Amino acid sequence: MKNKIENICCIGAGYVGGPTMAVIADNCKHLKINVVDMNKERIDLWNSSNLNELPIYEPGLDKIIERCRGKNLFFSNEVEKNIEIADMVFISVNTPTKKKGLGAGKASDLKWVEACARQVAKYARGYTIVVEKSTLPVKTAEVIKNILEAAELESKEKDIKFDVLSNPEFLAEGTAIKDLEAPDRVLIGGENQNAILSLSNIYSFWVEENKILHTNIWSSELAKLTANAFLAQRISSINSIGALCEATGADVREVARAIGTDSRIGSKFLDSGPGFGGSCFKKDILNLVYLSNYFGLPEVADFWEGIVKLNNWHQHRISKLIVKKLFGTVSGKKICILGFAFKANTNDTRESAAINICNDLIEEGAVLFIHDPKVDPKQIEKDLDRKENIQLKGYKDSNFYEFEGNWCSINELNSASEGSDAIVVLTEWKEYSSLDWVEISKKMRKPAWVFDVRSIIPSKKITNLNLNFWQIGNGSDY
Ligand code: NAD
Ligand code: UGA
Repeated sequence: MKNKIENICCIGAGYVGGPTMAVIADNCKHLKINVVDMNKERIDLWNSSNLNELPIYEPGLDKIIERCRGKNLFFSNEVEKNIEIADMVFISVNTPTKKKGLGAGKASDLKWVEACARQVAKYARGYTIVVEKSTLPVKTAEVIKNILEAAELESKEKDIKFDVLSNPEFLAEGTAIKDLEAPDRVLIGGENQNAILSLSNIYSFWVEENKILHTNIWSSELAKLTANAFLAQRISSINSIGALCEATGADVREVARAIGTDSRIGSKFLDSGPGFGGSCFKKDILNLVYLSNYFGLPEVADFWEGIVKLNNWHQHRISKLIVKKLFGTVSGKKICILGFAFKANTNDTRESAAINICNDLIEEGAVLFIHDPKVDPKQIEKDLDRKENIQLKGYKDSNFYEFEGNWCSINELNSASEGSDAIVVLTEWKEYSSLDWVEISKKMRKPAWVFDVRSIIPSKKITNLNLNFWQIGNGSDY
C-alpha cells in the first residue's frame, strides 16, 4: 500500500472542515486539498472574492483563505470527483442529536456520516485512508468499516482498499485558528500503523511529535466525548456555585480564583455565564448518556445527564431573575440584549443560551432590541422562530415609548437604549466592556437595570449613574 498522500478530500465545509483544512493547506503546501459540501450556498460563500462573506467568522481565517484558496485549497460541490482522486478522505459532517426513532433526543444521528461512507465506498479508487473528523459515538468506525468492507468485497476489479482512522477535532470556535495552529494535542486512533503514520506525517509539518498521540480507535472516539463532557461539567459546576454565591453573599469570581490556583483544578473554564451553548457540548454529553444506558450503566448516564439538566435550569433561572427584578413583569417593557452568539468571536448561534433567555422574555411579553456584531439578523429570526416585527405605537409620556411586536435587531446600543428598562449582556464581545454608560444611563427609563450575565462590565463604571446593576454570581453587592 502506498503511504504517500498527495490529494486530500474533506467532506463537510462547516465550522470544522473549513478551518481545519485551511490550516493543513497552509502548513502543507505539497498537498492538494479539496473541501466538498452538498450545500451550494455555503460553497459559494467559501469561494466569495469578498473575504467578509466567508460562511463562518473566525479570527485569522480570512488571511489563510487568501493565501491558500485556488493554490492548494479548493472548495466545491464536486463530491464524487474529489473522492475519486483522494488518497485520504476526511469525514467532517454534522452529527446532531437524533430527533426521532431509537435513541431520539440523546443518540447522535449518523445519517450524514453513513451517507459519506457510502459515497466513499462508491467513488473511491485504489487505496484510501478514511479519517473520522466528526465527533462520533464509540464504535462508529466499525459502521464505516462495515460499509467500506462490503464495497471492497463487491468490486474486486476496482482494487479498492480502505483503512479507517479516528482523528477527532478539539478546536473551539472563536479561537479555531489558534487551536489548530498550536494544538494541545492531536489524537489519532486506528489499527493500521502505516495509515496512522501517514496522518501523523501531515500534522508533523507544524505540530511537535510528542503532541501527536496514538491510541486504539475506540479510545480516540471516547476521548473526544469525554473531553467535551469534562469541559461542560466545569461550566455547570461553576454556574451552580454562582447561584449559591448570589444566595449567600459570596462572589463567584473570588471563588473561581481561589479554587483555580489549586494546580490540580486549574484556572481555565471557570467563568460563570448564561450557561454553555454551542453545537457540541449538549449533543456530545447526551450521546454519552445514551451510550452509558445502552451499555447497562444507568448510574453513569444519570451522572452526566445532570450536567445538561443543570445547564437548562440555569438558563431559565436567568430569565426568571430578570422578570423578578423588573417588578415581576416585563410585559411591554423594552429590553436591549447585547450578544446573541453562543460565545464571543463567532457568528455561530447553535444552542446559544441567548435563544432560551430571549424566548422566555418574549413569552413574558418583553419587547427585545437585539445586538450582535457578527450574527446575521436572519439567523436570529430562525432561532427565535419569529420575524423581526417591532413597531413604535406611540409615546405614552415623554420617556415611555409604546411598542408592538416581539423583537428587532439593532446596529448599536447608544441610540437603541432610548426608553429601555433593562440591558442584558449575554455574549462577552469585547466591545461590550467599554460602553459609554454615562450616555446610556441618561437614555434609559428609570428605574433601569443592567444585567451583566458575562461579568464583563467593570462595576465602578455603573456606580452613581442611577442604574441598578446585577452581575452573575455576585452576591456580595446585594
Ligand atoms: P457544520 O454543520 O458546520 O458542517 C457540516 C457540513 O457537512 C454542512 O455544511 C453539511 O452541508 C455538510 N454535509 C453533511 N452531509 C454531507 C454529505 N453527505 N456530503 C457533503 N456534505 C455534507 O458542522 P461542524 O460544526 O463543522 O461539525 C462537524 C463535526 O465536527 C460534528 O461532528 C461536530 O460534533 C464536530 N466538531 C465540531 C466543532 C465545532 O466547534 N463546531 C469542534 C469539534 C468537533
Ligand atoms: C468546545 C470545546 O472547547 C472544544 O474543545 C471542542 O472541540 C468543541 O466544543 C466541539 O467539540 O465542538 P466550543 O463549543 O466552540 O468548543 O466553545 P467553548 O469555548 O468550549 O465554549 C462553549 C460554551 O461554554 C460557550 O457557550 C461558552 O460561553 C461557555 N463557557 C466556556 C462558559 O460559560 N464559561 C467558561 O469558562 C468557558
